[in-house]
Amino acid sequence: MSRKASIPQPIDRVRKIIVAIDGPAGAGKSTIARHLARHFGLLNLETGAMYRAFALKALRAGLSLDDSAALEELAAQTDIRLESGDTENRVLLDCEDVTGLIRNQMVTDAASRVSQFPAIREWMVLRQQKLGAAGGVVMEGRDIGTVVFPHADAKIFLDAAPEVRGMRRFDQMGPKPAQQPEEVIRDLRERDRRDRNRANSPLRAAEDAVLLDSTNMTLEEAVKAAEEIVEKKLALRKLAAGPSTNSI
Ligand code: DC
Repeated sequence: MSRKASIPQPIDRVRKIIVAIDGPAGAGKSTIARHLARHFGLLNLETGAMYRAFALKALRAGLSLDDSAALEELAAQTDIRLESGDTENRVLLDCEDVTGLIRNQMVTDAASRVSQFPAIREWMVLRQQKLGAAGGVVMEGRDIGTVVFPHADAKIFLDAAPEVRGMRRFDQMGPKPAQQPEEVIRDLRERDRRDRNRANSPLRAAEDAVLLDSTNMTLEEAVKAAEEIVEKKLALRKLAAGPSTNSI
């Protein structure tokens, strides 16, 4: 029996997908996004890093983080770029590499505050939509499945109990942690409260997101579960696209 010459499978189906990962701070979004990006050959884009870079600029400018008009004006003069890297995104703020300057507590807190303003969110969302427009991305944040890419191919809402998230953060602080575990958990609860209760695009799961609660999972188990969620969505997508042209 002769086999028909096989036409290469268009990798577009895989490469052009958009995976949205949302969830609260410390749920493991970045780690899982990074693994998914590697596994499925996607670009990994951390939208939180964009809010952080903008917050850094506002702090440097000495702006009040409650002054919505001043922040909006600042955004109009700001350029933020993300470059997908192996371990984390490289973040360029007005062409300056600020990757190493945006993870401290002051910027973390400021990012959560500036992200409450609708004008800032609109500005960010437009940029994030442009970044992911060509597909082939896993994008993580708070509003990716609800606002930035409501038609994403796979949406995961990653959560875990605050105490567990806080302890994971604490463990990442190394041998000389700047805070006690209870302080880390307290800050995280405060950020959760702000992110979940803001009037604009509060943190919540999209209706069609798959909930993944990693409270009682190891990181490996959570990564595996996330991979399976995306695999399933891809299989459904393939079915919806009809039979492939290179069947024997
Ligand atoms: O994911 P992260 O911790 O780096 O995010 C920093 C802050 O940015 C977070 O407190 C809320 C905000 N954020 C947001 O409002 N929407 C996003 N898509 C990503 C982050």
